[in-house]
Amino acid sequence: MNLPRRPRRLRRTPAMRALVRETRLSADQLVYPLFVCEGTGVRRAVSSMPGVFQLSVDEAVREAAAARADGVGAVLLFGLPAGKDAEGSAAWDPQGPVPRAVRAIVADVPDLMVVTDVCLCEYTEHGHCGLLDGERILNDPTVERLVRSAIVHAEAGAHVVAPSDMMDGRVAAIRQALDGRGFEDVAILSYAVKYCSAFYGPFREAADSAPKFGDRRSHQMDPANSDEALREAALDVEEGADMVMVKPAVPYLDIVSRVKRELRVPTAAYHVSGEYAMLKAAAANGWLDETRAMLETLLSIRRAGADIIVTYYARDAARILRAQTP
Ligand code: PBG
Repeated sequence: MNLPRRPRRLRRTPAMRALVRETRLSADQLVYPLFVCEGTGVRRAVSSMPGVFQLSVDEAVREAAAARADGVGAVLLFGLPAGKDAEGSAAWDPQGPVPRAVRAIVADVPDLMVVTDVCLCEYTEHGHCGLLDGERILNDPTVERLVRSAIVHAEAGAHVVAPSDMMDGRVAAIRQALDGRGFEDVAILSYAVKYCSAFYGPFREAADSAPKFGDRRSHQMDPANSDEALREAALDVEEGADMVMVKPAVPYLDIVSRVKRELRVPTAAYHVSGEYAMLKAAAANGWLDETRAMLETLLSIRRAGADIIVTYYARDAARILRAQTP
């Protein structure tokens, strides 16, 4: 048969396009990051991330409840402590902003998954992700502190802890410590594949976590590497990670795709601060249709293979998705 092939047949109407659509985005796959600070009634705008705020615990609870009402599946909490020191001891203070926010959100917002970021960079005065010897980040002493932080988050009621530090061996250490204390149901989402990226710039303003000297190349991954990402992710799964994350998202969609295809574990991608800021800046200038660009971006991350997307757009996207469903 020599009839002309006509792929456009399947693109004629909205209903036809919906029928053959391969990838869907849904609000319960979205994770919404929140930056929790001290005080009450605080809602401090982050200048490089329009629409993102540092929130006191009471405001964080309101934001989390609003996100749940929009249909968002989870929040991811970062902390801005009252004080910082060389070892980041505020990271395991049960009265710190993150544990307090966890307790309040778990109590007030049923069905919302609460994930906590586990790292020291928001808590150390030098802004590095671990303990230092001169300018060198010490691995094992840092892991010991990360474990303390993860336990405090679990005790507060976190459903998932998400170590983002990229120290070696921390997933196994956290898993063992959690199980040893009866927290075998607390899941680990490891930032298994975290690149040393320029796209974290705005986050460091939001979380007040910019390193005071040097950079994060000695522990975050070289953007040139792909096989190494598979080794990192496989190691974390072996150590007990329930879910793995690739970060940033869009410049690393090839990695998202490989990790999901080769490991077959729940895979998250973090659409990071710089990716968000780029879209916001272009939209503010009238150069892009923000809603369309946002949905296309999030869809592309799903299409690459991510099951879960961490995004500052979570609430906006959830609201739009809800309005679209009949
Ligand atoms: C480290 C951490 C970072 C981000 C999430 N966890 C920053 C870094 O590694 O410097 C970046 C997230 C973003 O850019 O949105 N705790």
